[in-house]
This record gives sequence, C-alpha cells and structure tokens, in this order.
Amino acid sequence: MTLNNNTVFDCSVIDISKVHTSSGNITVVQNGDNIPFNVNRVYYLYDVPGGEVRGGHAHYKLEQYIIAASGSFEVVLDDGRNRRRITLNRPNLAIHIKPGLWRELYDFSSGSICMVLASHVYDESDYIREYSLFKKLKNE
Ligand code: TYD
Repeated sequence: MTLNNNTVFDCSVIDISKVHTSSGNITVVQNGDNIPFNVNRVYYLYDVPGGEVRGGHAHYKLEQYIIAASGSFEVVLDDGRNRRRITLNRPNLAIHIKPGLWRELYDFSSGSICMVLASHVYDESDYIREYSLFKKLKNE
C-alpha cells in the first residue's frame, strides 16, 4: 500500500468556535459543518501516567481531529523530513492530522483528556507502528 505524501505543514490547528454563556461554554463539532471528514469513531485517552508517550505510529487512511478536552499535552508530527510540535491546551482547539503522518503525544498534564474524532472505525491494518518502515514508505 502506498503512503500518502502529506507533510506536517498540511495539518492545521483549528480554532473551533465557542458558544459562551454565563453558565459555561459549549464547543460543537458536527459532520458537514466544521470538520472536513465524517466522524465514525470517537475515543479518548485519560489517566495517562506522567512521563508516558502515546501514539508512535502513522495511518494509511485515517484522519483525525485531536482535542485537549481537559488539561494539556504536546503533539509532535513527523513526515519523515520535518517535525512540528504543537501544544494543545484549550478545549476549543483541534489539530487536524491528515493520513500518512507519524505522531507522538506526551507531557500529559494531570487529569488531562485527549479526545480524538476519527474518520474511520478501528482497523489495526491501517497502522504503521515501526518508524523505520514509515520512513521507507514515505521516501518511496
Ligand atoms: P493505540 O492506537 O496504539 O493508542 P495510542 O495511539 O493512543 O497510543 O491503541 C492502543 C490499544 O488500544 C491497542 O491495543 C489498540 C486498542 N484500540 C482499540 O481497540 N480501538 C481503538 O479505537 C483504539 C484507538 C485503540
């Protein structure tokens, strides 16, 4: 399978709008409106022990919005040539990760929640979990 040639610069940080009321805020992401793919799966990481690194893989076709629903963490994107580090620390910010990019998530603050909106249901065959294979496929 060929790997998409997206670069880290094809990924954007989106400021999702916020409905502010005196009793709190609401941020909405809905298909066909403010997300460029249909969401078929939502999952979230929580209770990540301090010092732990998550991710460490790329996907052939999966697209994701990654959101710090609570707390903060760092995201590093890697396209085999360039690396880009982004801090997520507000629940109305999302990183749009396109297919074909290596990602790592780390420095999770205590109590943080990493919410992921994903374009496809879980499929282990969509993962590349070996960095050397990722680099090789990216250079083909
Ligand atoms: P993984 O995607 O490697 O986690 P992360 O990128 O957050 O470090 O998944 C960790 C484990 O959870 C792995 O055994 C697969 C399983 N898993 C599912 O069963 N369904 C899912 O939707 C996801 C994301 C993971």
